[in-house]
Amino acid sequence: MCGIIGCVGRDGETLETLVHGLSKLEYRGYDSAGVALTGDGETVEISKKAGELDDLRAALEEYAPAGEVGIGHTRWSTHGPPTDENAHPHQDCTGRVAVVHNGIIENYQALRDELATSGHTFRSDTDTEVLPHLVEEGLDSGLDPDAAVRQALTRVDGSYAVAVVVAGVDAVFAARNDSPLVLGEDDDAVYLASDVPAFRDFTDRVVYLADGEFARLDGEGWTVTNIDGETVEKTVDTVDWDPEEAGKSGYDHFMLKEIHEQPRALRQCLRGRVEELGGNIEVGDLGDLSPTGVQFVACGTSYHAALYGAQLFQQAGIPAQAFLASEYASSPPPIGDALVIGVTQSGETADTLSALREADKRGARTLAVTNTVGSTAARECDHVFYIRAGPEIGVAATKTFASQLAALNLLVLAMAGGNARDIVPALRDLPGDVQALLDDSNAEAIAEVYEDSSAYFFIGRGYHYPVALEGALKMKEISYKHAEGFAAGELKHGPLALVTEETPVFAVVTGDGESARKTIGNVKEVEARNAPVVAVTDGASEVERYADHVLRVPETHPRAASVLANVQLQLVSYHVAKRLGRSIDKPRNLAKSVTVE
Ligand code: G6P
Repeated sequence: MCGIIGCVGRDGETLETLVHGLSKLEYRGYDSAGVALTGDGETVEISKKAGELDDLRAALEEYAPAGEVGIGHTRWSTHGPPTDENAHPHQDCTGRVAVVHNGIIENYQALRDELATSGHTFRSDTDTEVLPHLVEEGLDSGLDPDAAVRQALTRVDGSYAVAVVVAGVDAVFAARNDSPLVLGEDDDAVYLASDVPAFRDFTDRVVYLADGEFARLDGEGWTVTNIDGETVEKTVDTVDWDPEEAGKSGYDHFMLKEIHEQPRALRQCLRGRVEELGGNIEVGDLGDLSPTGVQFVACGTSYHAALYGAQLFQQAGIPAQAFLASEYASSPPPIGDALVIGVTQSGETADTLSALREADKRGARTLAVTNTVGSTAARECDHVFYIRAGPEIGVAATKTFASQLAALNLLVLAMAGGNARDIVPALRDLPGDVQALLDDSNAEAIAEVYEDSSAYFFIGRGYHYPVALEGALKMKEISYKHAEGFAAGELKHGPLALVTEETPVFAVVTGDGESARKTIGNVKEVEARNAPVVAVTDGASEVERYADHVLRVPETHPRAASVLANVQLQLVSYHVAKRLGRSIDKPRNLAKSVTVE
């Protein structure tokens, strides 16, 4: 996920407007930034820099590109580490064309090889750089810039929001396919951006582009056309959020926004990695690792993902264990030929890094499953697999957990085989299933009923056990209320003493197999003690008979059901915390990334 901005007009303030827009988009990516402006010169003027936006600002003090028409970008790396060369905008061989891009070009390697063979020189490791060279080819063959951009995009598979400027042409050309792009207008200028906050300080009049649409922004305003060049009539909407709220796209909190971003995050995680018809999984060289044993190390929410991952490998016949990273070094397990997998959203958690280093010291192969390109874990491990969830701002992890579970499913299929035919369709349906659940969730009403409870308990079995732990962690992190997750079968061995009329028990039960039947037995134990029961269920079993309330999830494969059940529990915690007036995005005493042991 990256942030794009474009602007035409603003009477001598285009550069300032772009940089201001980038500052509002930093939540979408923050490892490098750049701008390109075009005036009368024969080449586009560019400044770009690895690091935070302040590094670009410092570079602009030295050299400030000039022009009335410009584009900018804040990057969150997917192809290639954060370096000056990999920062956007990217250019063609002649310097006439500059492109910013958000998304993933799946066939970039083939395009790059083809373009290199016909003499194009590449300066970065990015997938994006094929675009300016494709536009250059179009211009060289006599096409006008608009046609050259269109032709370039017909060559590209994958997702994109792009903005293009061409030297000597007073216009920005833009298009989207499966990545957001929105236009803005005021009386003096036109804007485009990945998200409204980028230009919300200047205007509240916006036009949302749809997939397959092209836009041209120039001194006359904007026009939108379809793939065939026919004009598309668009409505101008008025956004009613004030500028401070805009970073959350109208959501009250980043956490809620990120909960709602899960369908997109999952799509990005799966894109280009699952060959739907044959069920083949594409994870590059990782598929060849063939581990004889796996040890997971992780903290917090990532540890819950690791517990789930360990079950996946066990089921596939590979011995696997999940360790709390902070405990790993004090009692190191025999490593043998195991692959040690660090699951870490940030890639910077000190405990996880230290466990991975310990494993490395003892000769193990290491793999980072992370969200953050260029992070320490990504750099230090022998291998890395990105979950591609996009930046997560809320301290309480939400969308990254869903993407970790999806990513671990891909890894186990690629490394250990197993019944892909079963799970692949469920993974493919998962983004849509999460969306259906989000559209129809009654979690807010459940939160209202139980906001005053003295404690909350969560139970689950098998793949739903990590979900019970994660449900409880979310609740305690953001509501500051006592919450515990238990393996359903363990309830009767102690925790049952805590259960009263004041303590709702959230029971995750899907399907109607052995596991569901046993968990229903545990639910009956709870019900007999008069504790309220909230069943998180797909309706396949009779658990609802023993429940006071139901949170519904779509019917699917048990492994995918865990992701869905967790979304309902995220929503319950969110709404309890909101009703209690908690600091949801920045809970007391907690940090997003804990870089001390
Ligand atoms: C912190 C965060 C948690 C997170 C944990 C592990 O405690 O508050 O939300 O799960 O770190 O972070 P990681 O970046 O390694 O996944």
